[in-house]
Amino acid sequence: MIKTIIEPFRIKVVEPIAFTTTKQRAELLKNSGHNLFQIDAQNITIDMLTDSGTSALSSKQWSALMLGDESYAGASSFHHFKSSVQNIFGFSQVLPVHQGRAAERILFSELVKPGNIVPGNAHFDTTRANIERLQAEAVDLPCRAWLESSDQDFLGNVDLERLKNLIETSGPENIPLVILTITSNTCAGQPVSMQNIAQTSQLLKTYGIPLYIDAARFAENAYFIKLLEPGYSKRSILSIANEIFSYADGAMMSCKKDGLANIGGFIALKDTELTERLKVNLIVSEGFPTYGGLTGRDLETIAVGLQEVLEDDYLNYRAASASFLWNGLNKLGVPLIQKPALHAVYVDAAQMIPHIEPAFLPGQVLVCELFLEGGIRTCEIGTAMFGKTDKKNGTQICAQRELVRLALPRRVYTQSHFEYVIEAFENIQKRVDKLSGLKITKEAPALRHFTAVFEPTRLLIPSK
Ligand code: F0G
Repeated sequence: MIKTIIEPFRIKVVEPIAFTTTKQRAELLKNSGHNLFQIDAQNITIDMLTDSGTSALSSKQWSALMLGDESYAGASSFHHFKSSVQNIFGFSQVLPVHQGRAAERILFSELVKPGNIVPGNAHFDTTRANIERLQAEAVDLPCRAWLESSDQDFLGNVDLERLKNLIETSGPENIPLVILTITSNTCAGQPVSMQNIAQTSQLLKTYGIPLYIDAARFAENAYFIKLLEPGYSKRSILSIANEIFSYADGAMMSCKKDGLANIGGFIALKDTELTERLKVNLIVSEGFPTYGGLTGRDLETIAVGLQEVLEDDYLNYRAASASFLWNGLNKLGVPLIQKPALHAVYVDAAQMIPHIEPAFLPGQVLVCELFLEGGIRTCEIGTAMFGKTDKKNGTQICAQRELVRLALPRRVYTQSHFEYVIEAFENIQKRVDKLSGLKITKEAPALRHFTAVFEPTRLLIPSK
C-alpha cells in the first residue's frame, strides 16, 4: 500500500506568482513602513496572510457558478445554497450574508443589549468588535490546558467551570447567547471536542441561554473529532457535523474558509420569530434575504464548496500538508504552538528571537524577515495586533503571546511551496542573533496592525 498522501486533485488552471530580488524586497519593505498589509499582492511570492477567501475553486464549483441565477428574489441558486447548508447544519432558517462579520453584526444587533455579556471559548476579533460596538462585553473562557500550554487534545475547548461561574455571578438574563468558535482561530486553530460542545449545550439549556456556533472552520473541527475523540473514527465527517450542530440553536459562518469560496457567509437558526427580525436588519444592509449581498454565482459556488470540504480525501490532504510544514519547521527547531492545526502553522516568535523583547515586536520582525528572505507574507498575532501604546510613556502594553501565523489557503500551494518556506526559516535562523527590533511610529486608534508604520530600532534591550 502507498502511504504518501497526495493532493486529491490535478491542476487545470495555473496562476503565475511573482519573484522579486532581495534588493527590491528591502525597498518594498521600507516603503510599506514594514507593514505587509501595505504591500501589493503582485509583489508577494507565497501569500500566507490568511486562509480566508483565498481557496482555489474546483471544476465542479466553476461549472456550478455558470448556473448562477441572478434574479433579485427567490433565485434557484438560493434554494441550492439553502439545501446544501441544511444538509450539514440542520437548521430550518438560512440567511445568506456577504461574509462572516455581517452575520455577526446582524445577529448581535437583534440579540445583544448594552451591558450584556457574551462569553465564548475565544472570540475572533471581528466577533469581539461586533459585540463591543453594542456596548456589551465579549468574554473569552479558553480551557485551562490552552492557558497552560499543555499538549493535550482539544485545546480550543471552553472552560465549563468558568462559564458556569460567570453565568451565576452575572445572571443568565444578562447573557443573550454563548458562542463556540470551531476551530478556535484565536487559540491557534485548536479544535473543540464533541463532548465539550454537548456539555456546553446541556449547561446552557438549564439557564435558557442559546448556544451559537461560529462555524468558519467546522469541517476541520469535525476532522479532529474523527481523528482524536473516542467513538468517532468510523463516523463520516457529515454525520459528525450533523451532531455538532444538533447541540446548537444556530450558527454563523464565514464561507470564505470551510465554504471553499472566495466570498460569502450565512446565519442559520431554528427560531422563526428571530429570523423575521434578522431579515429586516439584513434587508437594510445586505440585500433581499434570498441573496444577502451575494451573486447567484457565489451562492452556487458555496453550495458545492460546503459539500466538497467534507470529503475524506480533501481533509486528509489538508492535514498532511499542514503537518508537512509543521514537521519541517519543527525539525529545524523553530518554536511552534505544540499542536498542529489545519488552517495555519503558528510560530512562537518571542522564543525564536529571544533577544528582542515583546515591546520591540519580535513577531513583526519575523514577518518582515520572511518577506525579505523569500517574498513570503504572513501575519503577526502578538503585540502589533493586540497590544496598545501606553499614552503616558509611549511604551508598549504587550499581548499575551508573540505569534506569527502562516495561514494555509485551501488547495492553492503544493509541497514544494512549503519546502521553500521551510528553507526561508533555515536561512533566517542563521542570522537570528543579528536581528533588531521594531517600534511603532504611527498607528490608528483601532485595529492598528492594518495600517501601523514600523521603524527598525537598534535598541535591542529596552531601558528599564
Ligand atoms: N469568525 C472566525 C473564526 C474567523 O476566523 C473570521 C475571519 C470571521 C469570523 C470573520 O469572517 O472575514 O468572512 O468577515 N477570519 C479571517 C482570518 C479574516 O484571516 O482569520 P469574515
